[in-house]
Amino acid sequence: MNKGQYIVIEGLEGAGKSTALETVKTCLAEQGIDFIATREPGGTPLAEKLRHILKHYEDEAITSQSELLLMYAARSQLVENVIKPALSQGKWVLGDRHDLSSRAYQGGGRQIPMNTLDQLRDLTLGDFRPALTLYLDIDPVKGLARAKARGKLDRIEQQQLDFFQRARRVYLDEVALNSHCVKIDASLALETVQQAIRSAVTQFINQCHDN
Ligand code: TMP
Repeated sequence: MNKGQYIVIEGLEGAGKSTALETVKTCLAEQGIDFIATREPGGTPLAEKLRHILKHYEDEAITSQSELLLMYAARSQLVENVIKPALSQGKWVLGDRHDLSSRAYQGGGRQIPMNTLDQLRDLTLGDFRPALTLYLDIDPVKGLARAKARGKLDRIEQQQLDFFQRARRVYLDEVALNSHCVKIDASLALETVQQAIRSAVTQFINQCHDN
């Protein structure tokens, strides 16, 4: 199995992304797969600076359009400078968020028209897509309560509930339409969620072996 594959974890705040990432890392390591882990926004020196601005800048209001463009600027840096080079060396890449987050948060949450999102995706990514996306689905009421319990909320986490409800709607709609996306019910017991993640990743690895 020489070809690198790109796997992404997606979900609202408090969905359990960090635990899911650890579970996927364990699965890949158990199979002897050489991989790198990335996150969005972030994952390169410039993209990490943009991440800091996006999460914590409060001196001036960041417009929805600027937020969207900064997300895509960070994504372009990461995809071109880190992800594509790793994949071309045969490494796998495990991403903490990717393009679907922009569609959910900026498209759904901020209500930026989807055709604008499509245009930016074409410009930034062309036809580059993850081979597998695991979407951890959680009711935002539950997710935000978990995020609040973790401590101070960042600029995006401070949005109102309806922002996250719209984001979840986009996640659910897009995941239902895309055969490379798997929905995981993140409201279930931790063990059950981890088992579902392991099973989706193992099935994907087996498919890669067969091809
Ligand atoms: P997190 O990865 O630690 O959850 O923080 C990233 C935050 O940025 C999170 O609130 C989701 C948000 N985000 C967007 O709004 N759009 C995007 O395209 C991405 C990648 C993240």
